[in-house]
Amino acid sequence: MLKLAQLSDLHLLTNPSEDRWGLNPQALFDQVLALAISQQPDALLLTGDLAHEEDLATYQRLQQQLEGYGLPILAIPGNHDNADLIEQTFGEPLLDFDELTVIGLNSHIRGSDSGFLGDQELGRAEALIKASDKPVLLALHHHPLEVGSAWIDELSLVDADAFNDLVKQQANKITAVICGHVHQVFESDISGIPFYSCPSTNRQFKPGAKDFTTDDLMPGCRLFTFDQGQLHSQVLRIQ
Ligand SMILES: [Fe+2]
Repeated sequence: MLKLAQLSDLHLLTNPSEDRWGLNPQALFDQVLALAISQQPDALLLTGDLAHEEDLATYQRLQQQLEGYGLPILAIPGNHDNADLIEQTFGEPLLDFDELTVIGLNSHIRGSDSGFLGDQELGRAEALIKASDKPVLLALHHHPLEVGSAWIDELSLVDADAFNDLVKQQANKITAVICGHVHQVFESDISGIPFYSCPSTNRQFKPGAKDFTTDDLMPGCRLFTFDQGQLHSQVLRIQ
């Protein structure tokens, strides 16, 4: 059995003592991380917006905080991140387990809050899916499906049609698609493949809101359990 913890939208600040949106991102991340670690995951999946200010020191601080757990880490960039600094700090977003391959995709566009994969990243995804002889979990920051919240659906994956076509073509290999970015829980499917978004470890956004609206729900993470070819997911939140 394989256990994967997804933590998303940390929005860590250069100064860990500083607050944003009336919350302390580092303190909340520490609590969500402790909750995730209590589930004894085999790996951590960080699905974007790790650093709010594109600062190398923040990525290095995060890497140093996590390395003590000795777990494989998959890290992909969000709209707030610097994609090059993330890859430099955490390496290629690809985890290969005996029973599952996890492929992280870079949907970051410099200077935009929307996402875009483009031919190169879609081609990389297709090649990696085809090269894997195991089921594949695909992770990206931006949502390729509308979540029903107008303001954040305007900031989704611009080339979602091309991505969703790839998922459809490779449906027999793909176990699930997971994303961050929306700071809320949403579950649906892409051509029958389960699709999950993740709560933020920071501020939550209200589902269904037309304009930017925060939610009172507590920060959290997702825990995926892959057992005998079946993927199960649950949302965990701090108290
Ligand atoms: Fe975010």
